[in-house]
Amino acid sequence: MKIHGGNVLRGEVEVSGAKNAALPVLVSAILAGKPCTFERVPDLMDIRTLCKLLANMGMTVDFNRKANRAVLDPTSIHSQEAPYELVKTMRASVFVLGPLVAKYGYAKVSLPGGCAIGARPINYHLTGLEKLGARIQLEEGYVIANAKRLVGNRVAFEYPSVGATENVLMAAVLAQGESVLENCAKEPEIVDLARALRAMGAQIEGEGTETIRVQGKDSLGSCQHSIIGDRIEAGTFLCAGFATGGEVRVNGITPEFLEPVLVKLEESGAIIDRGAGFIGIRSKGRPKATDVTTLPHPGFPTDMQAQFMAAMTIADGASVITETVFENRFMHVPELARLGADITVRGKSAVVKGREKLKGAPVMATDLRASASLIIAGLCAEGPTTVSRIYHLDRGYERMEGKLRALGAEIERVPE
Ligand code: EPZ
Repeated sequence: MKIHGGNVLRGEVEVSGAKNAALPVLVSAILAGKPCTFERVPDLMDIRTLCKLLANMGMTVDFNRKANRAVLDPTSIHSQEAPYELVKTMRASVFVLGPLVAKYGYAKVSLPGGCAIGARPINYHLTGLEKLGARIQLEEGYVIANAKRLVGNRVAFEYPSVGATENVLMAAVLAQGESVLENCAKEPEIVDLARALRAMGAQIEGEGTETIRVQGKDSLGSCQHSIIGDRIEAGTFLCAGFATGGEVRVNGITPEFLEPVLVKLEESGAIIDRGAGFIGIRSKGRPKATDVTTLPHPGFPTDMQAQFMAAMTIADGASVITETVFENRFMHVPELARLGADITVRGKSAVVKGREKLKGAPVMATDLRASASLIIAGLCAEGPTTVSRIYHLDRGYERMEGKLRALGAEIERVPE
């Protein structure tokens, strides 16, 4: 991506459907008894990979990318296996484990393997499914799960893992009897998944709190569901607008999904307008440094850490940014340093000493949110910045350069 920094971003942008809601919601169609229609499905690499995986299992997948509409028919599923070559490119594939073993009594899913931002094991997923009666074996890099019929139980998560909560919740909706899931993740994407499952006929209460109660059903119907707006995409555009000293309004988003980020932006001097379905941000000059610690929702989201750090690199003062969710999520730091940022990493914390100006340079994306961070920094830097390996960005942002150009950014995608 080629960027010429220095433009102030102004205008409105509509966010796409949330990647981290769409992934588990599309997987939940496995549990349905009839075809399901999903609206506002973002056209992202990760979504296309998931559609390939579901089609590989025999599900009929009709993803109209232009209309962001996906129709999934689970009645043609003939395989309960998720092969390594698909899972290794998109770790959220492990979400199929719970639904498959709940509906078919069998699943064979490749272990996802490592990831740039951390080891990301799935032990909480597996122990949760075992609590519901699944027999779990690990063989040659695959998880094999068997169960005559899952039986509802109390499952207390050791950590409020988003993926483990989603996997076990999807399994519990077809288990026999009641399940009580405790210490659950409370992210808005969990709430959206529960809404989709309820639309299919599942009986769930408490989603979005630490305790979710499920009455298992023998089977589910079909559903029509529209995915919530992507709060991380929204936060990314708000950071870009703020860091460039502009005025941006993000449409198609529920402000409270992003409250922990809005509070920090206000601490940093931004004027925030929380509307019905939109968020506006206006800057009153240079951002002020402020400290951030990432935590599970409703704490500051780890997926916004890199983007917020980009804004702090040109803030007035020093900010301490602490990453508590993943063990290796500062890979954007050395790349930001190439643009002149002054950042020192000490263990889980990065100390960012704000500079008046950054200077454009060639940098390299290392993971999805690091790519967004480098683009924000490039938009603030003087002169040209090129961000290479931009395929990382395409995993989680739909038409990013088009949306930024509409806000006045000088940015274009050029062949590597
Ligand atoms: C989801 O990942 C998101 N991905 C991530 O977004 C997000 O960063 C993360 O939640 C935290 O909000 C999707 O929803 C597809 P976790 P997930 O389980 O479910 C450890 C992005 O940029 N852990 O809450 O994998 C884990 O290693 C991506 O869109 C275990 O140890 O997150 C991590 O340190 C990146 N064992 C911490 O818990 C487990 O069984 C939080 O992981 C599961 C997790």
